[in-house]
Amino acid sequence: MNCLHPRSWWLVWLAGTIGFCAAGSALAAEQAAMDAATRKLADRGRVVYTERCASCHDHPRERIPHREALRYRTSSAVVRALTRGVMHPMAEGVTADDIPALATFLTGAIPEPEPEPAANRCSDPGGPVAIGPGDWPVTGGDVRNTRHQAQPGFRAADVPRLKKKWAFAYPGGASGPVVVAGGRVFLASGTGEVFSLDAETGCAHWVHDSQGLVRSATVGTLSTGRTAVFFGDARGVVTALDAQTGTELWHTWVEKHALAKLTAAPTFYEDRVYVPMSSIEDPLQHEPSYECCTFRGSVASLDALTGELVWKTFTIVEPPKPLPRATQEGPQLYGPAGGAVWTPLTIDAKRKLVYAATGESYDDGNPLDAHAIVAYDLATGVRRWSRQFKPPELVGECREAGDSDCRNQFEFGAPVVLQRLPSGKEILLAGQKSGFAHGIDPDARGSVLWSKRVSLGGDMGGLMYGYAVDGATAYFPISDMYARPPSVPGGMVALDAASGALGWRRQGLEPVCSWGEESCLGASVAAATSIPGAVFQGTADGHIRAFAAEDGALLWDFDTGRVFAAVNGIEARGGHVNGYPAVPVGGALYVTSGASTQGWPGNALLVFSVDGK
Ligand code: HEC
Repeated sequence: MNCLHPRSWWLVWLAGTIGFCAAGSALAAEQAAMDAATRKLADRGRVVYTERCASCHDHPRERIPHREALRYRTSSAVVRALTRGVMHPMAEGVTADDIPALATFLTGAIPEPEPEPAANRCSDPGGPVAIGPGDWPVTGGDVRNTRHQAQPGFRAADVPRLKKKWAFAYPGGASGPVVVAGGRVFLASGTGEVFSLDAETGCAHWVHDSQGLVRSATVGTLSTGRTAVFFGDARGVVTALDAQTGTELWHTWVEKHALAKLTAAPTFYEDRVYVPMSSIEDPLQHEPSYECCTFRGSVASLDALTGELVWKTFTIVEPPKPLPRATQEGPQLYGPAGGAVWTPLTIDAKRKLVYAATGESYDDGNPLDAHAIVAYDLATGVRRWSRQFKPPELVGECREAGDSDCRNQFEFGAPVVLQRLPSGKEILLAGQKSGFAHGIDPDARGSVLWSKRVSLGGDMGGLMYGYAVDGATAYFPISDMYARPPSVPGGMVALDAASGALGWRRQGLEPVCSWGEESCLGASVAAATSIPGAVFQGTADGHIRAFAAEDGALLWDFDTGRVFAAVNGIEARGGHVNGYPAVPVGGALYVTSGASTQGWPGNALLVFSVDGK
């Protein structure tokens, strides 16, 4: 692989993921075959790209996808990303004519007009949405983020008989995980639409077109009896819709920083909506001409009835200030900044707290409260305690190993779990990209009960998007995407939640991808989900698997990396099962395959049930 810097494991992974060395020649062939009109537009796009985009997309790191990875998007998806998705701020000032030129340059195709909203409307309008005890109304299953379903409607013994019942094709790619409540599935697509599907058949009760890209929603019942759907978007706006009809109830700008975006869904609890704020300023740390950085992550509480802001508290305590200049060269820099909250918040009803797991700081300092677990008062947003997880010896170890900037690895990419142990004691569990799992005492201001390294760690984890906790046991999926022989990517560990003691460990399996070797990885980035007796795990080889909770034995393995007929008339294509976790509700298992931003793309929602009934 002479097109890669030999020590750049991120690039090696990316090359594996998207095959950009090989793709270079494929792209060249594709360009040769372009017609004159396409080529003219692409040439124009190349000029804008070089000026405005190449500084990041020709030098991929952390979350920046390489230019060649963008080739796998549809041309319209690139337009959407630039006009109302995550790249909206980066495309500021690009003219309306240059946007399709950029999309044509990146994908080799002139963008099609926006597709019509998916057909397949339900014939009957559907009744009120009533959230039931076995529903999954928030990303983490419940407001404690346990990701455990006590009443899945099927038994672990029946898992080997799970068969596809129906499939839905997310228009424009899968944007985030589903939630399921009141007989409906709520999800967001790469077109910026939010769908309410019938859980039984997949027909659409309503489709809401949002102004910014949405990742995931949450469902909650207000004290008025109305059930609402809440979601944030790539602009920093939170919106509430009536769950039954899709009618807008309110929307609120929670953060006006140009680079703010909402990655995780908000959490609904007792007529309040708790909002975790993240941003896309993090890659700009590496952009020499950018006046880095001024974004601070935050947690906000909104009145769920009106959308009014009740409180908002920044994660990083000090506001950013101009930093002293070492030389007169280069832009003025600012700090402290960072501490984005990428993941859903956790509600502690007993202690009246809301917990946030925070991201990296945007410089090498260690500002309060980046790389931390922070507890805020539910009613007022006052910071009650905080615990940072960036030990100097690990930063040293990371620096010695090479490449990473050694900030990103200390982020929390997964929510905190609040678990009641069989002893009655409660514990907080957290996992870091560095590969460490932590048990934390909520009754002692977050003092650390145990810390255990369960994997190698790295910029793409280590421990990435989440874990499931069932009674006394926590199941941690492992990414270790950069693992070099004799280590292998992937696998899972089961730990005793109270002590961190190892229950069992499974090595990552040899990846088998139905699309071929390109981008075929055994890493596991998506969160795990448990039911009594079994735990589900998705991997970057496109498989969803179930393991026995007791000893990790393989119970079920389904390859999603294929094409499926979908109920909404377009093709559902599976890819990496890496972004979004499985959701078991009402006798069915909902699996999203392929993500719109990273890895082998796809747009499939696959719904499984025992014998497909
Ligand atoms: C400062 C760095 C930076 C610059 C400059 C930049 N990007 Fe990006 N781009 C990113 C990052 C980081 C992501 C991944 C965002 C995420 O997933 O949150 C991304 C993602 C994308 C995506 C995928 C979005 C999706 O929804 O799948 C496209 C398309 C894209 N960029 C195009 C562009 C174009 C075209 C330009 C120039 C106008 C540009 N970018 C400029 C950093 C940058």
